[in-house]
Amino acid sequence: MIPEHIAIIMDGNGRWAKKRSLPRVFGHKQGVKTVKKIVKFASRLGVKVLTLYAFSAENWKRPKTEVEALFSLLSQFMKKDLKELIHVGVRLRILGDLSKFPQDLKSEIVSACQATEKNANLELNIALNYGARQEIVKAFEEMLAQGVKKPTEEILSSFLYTAGQPDPDLLIRTSGEFRISNFLLWQIAYSEIYITDKLWPDFTPQDLEGAISEFQKRERRFGGI
Ligand code: IPE
Ligand code: IPE
Ligand code: MG
Repeated sequence: MIPEHIAIIMDGNGRWAKKRSLPRVFGHKQGVKTVKKIVKFASRLGVKVLTLYAFSAENWKRPKTEVEALFSLLSQFMKKDLKELIHVGVRLRILGDLSKFPQDLKSEIVSACQATEKNANLELNIALNYGARQEIVKAFEEMLAQGVKKPTEEILSSFLYTAGQPDPDLLIRTSGEFRISNFLLWQIAYSEIYITDKLWPDFTPQDLEGAISEFQKRERRFGGI
């Protein structure tokens, strides 16, 4: 079975650049190329939801120049790269708090979401200024504001950015780090985890296929026997 929802922690852009004695931003640029390839391939495979961690709520700690370079790549992605992805039926959703983003970039992101809202082939979630703990706190704030008296798992899920989507079946992290880095803590309760040493710019559709075939060998027990 092809996983319905694949989530990816796209890590290792900086190390990819460092290995080549290039500035980190070159790694991010190369990383965007990987994003395009992986989105197209996932759509072809019939994956329903693909979630990509692009900028964490903690990534503001990076030098201003790097954050600005990431925003500029993001802007380019929203204005240009996404056009190439629209014809594969991608529908864009943002997970995260855009309020601290520059106004121009916010408008570009909102337009990109609107431009794809009729598409139905692949739901592409891009996590931007995303943190899972922040997401859960926000969900509680909204539940309180709406007078929810008795939260359930279903109700809480419906207040998350991923409302209405299935939880990830497969969580992939590139670059060999064995940690979650505040990504989708609630939603990955029963996801299968796949960690590869490949750096994100080097990650190929074949690598995704490899992760999926490993996933297909796993026995998911969900607490049963
Ligand atoms: C992931 O690559 C991309 C973002 C976090 C934006 P990194 O930039 O974290 O690359 P490394 O981990 O330093 O190699
Ligand atoms: C996680 O990568 C965030 C993204 C991929 C956007 P980081 O590179 O920020 O994570 P840590 O700092 O190694 O935990
Ligand atoms: Mg990293």
